[in-house]
Amino acid sequence: MSLASTPSEPMLTGRRIVLGLTGSIAAYKSATLARELRRRGADVRVVMTPGATEFITPLTMATLVDHPVHSDFTEDQDAGVWTNHVELGIWGDLILVAPATANTLAAMVHGGCDNLLQAVLLSARCPVAVAPAMDLDMFTHDATQSNLATLKERGVDVIEPGTGPLASGLVGKGRMAEPEDIADHLEQWFAKDLPYAGKRVVITAGPTHEPLDAVRFLGNRSSGKMGFALAEALAAQGAEVTLVAGPVSLATPDRVHSRVDVSTAMDMNDAVQKIWPRMDLGIACAAVSDFRPAVTSEDKWHRGDVPPAVELIENPDILAGMGATKQHHQRLVGFALESDDGVASAEGKLARKNLDAIVLNSLRDAGAGFGHDTNKVSVLFQGGKSVSFELKSKYEVAQDLVELWRTTLNP
Ligand code: PMT
Repeated sequence: MSLASTPSEPMLTGRRIVLGLTGSIAAYKSATLARELRRRGADVRVVMTPGATEFITPLTMATLVDHPVHSDFTEDQDAGVWTNHVELGIWGDLILVAPATANTLAAMVHGGCDNLLQAVLLSARCPVAVAPAMDLDMFTHDATQSNLATLKERGVDVIEPGTGPLASGLVGKGRMAEPEDIADHLEQWFAKDLPYAGKRVVITAGPTHEPLDAVRFLGNRSSGKMGFALAEALAAQGAEVTLVAGPVSLATPDRVHSRVDVSTAMDMNDAVQKIWPRMDLGIACAAVSDFRPAVTSEDKWHRGDVPPAVELIENPDILAGMGATKQHHQRLVGFALESDDGVASAEGKLARKNLDAIVLNSLRDAGAGFGHDTNKVSVLFQGGKSVSFELKSKYEVAQDLVELWRTTLNP
């Protein structure tokens, strides 16, 4: 999804993957897999065993990855040009064998070198993943299971096969994992190196709606765009993001771990209180209503029924509650939307709510604050340090903030 002018890059951007195909009917799925890896930004080179070329042509794979396929030890026998298998193993960030037959798994265990792919695997310096594909009895056979256990011990990432109808007509475990699932798996595998890997983050976003009667509410003009952009940017950096969203019409950004939809400030408070103790970082971007009507009519008010005055009572301050229970390892960031330059007011919130930083946006700046696709922010930290950014798309603002927090707050 694109929230603003600069959507996040696909997760596998710049990742170099050597895709090895072996002789299994599942090789037809490798065409979709290659396309999926490329769609997610990976640079893919294909190595095929002679067996694999009987199931799918090198031309198909070469066209999909936009590079010649390697399947022989020699490129041009007459001229004596050989395929440098060592180079491929060094080039890749990862070698993925998909499908991986029982035969190739056995060769990997015993250091077989009968074909180019096996030579690449034997000389590889990068990590290796395999997606086994075979008949159910071959898969459950002690030999295969012991080979898989050995490979796992050596650090090979085994992407478990699925269960279902097999080429033999039998039904059981042995189907190569689906291309989308393999690509998801690799995204997660690569994500472990990202700066926010292993960090759990809760973000509040959007407005709250405080009901007056069955159809009316007190609310505000927050669209949720800033909070959702933050969720997207943090998830792209490997964080496990839980998004607590008020009533907005935005799709959940890619890779966000979970989303809790709420309507009122009380609901948002309940959701956050449950989640916050397990988090490493909390970001309160929501425009929470500080008040709610003391009495809510379950029916729609009609002319004549409307009370002469609406009594308001205070909502809990969600962020202040998070600040009051903040643990030593937790970091907490608030937002402040002010109608003047707002520094004094933001500094007051920073101290009062026990925050590590507060992000100030002002209604005085054109293109900043509610609703826009852009924002202009300054970040004030405990201790007096502050950093200001120019007007940018909300996604770029989110990227700046995520990087700034990484270096200053060390969440
Ligand atoms: O959603 P968009 O259209 O993209 O707009 C983004 C935004 C302008 C809403 C966002 O950038 C922003 O500034 N959010 C904070 C809005 C605000 O003014 O908050 P506040 O000053 O009322 O509250 C200060 C902080 O306390 C905020 O982090 C707020 O989430 C939190 N708070 C406030 C009241 C309350 N009862 N509970 C809270 O947690």
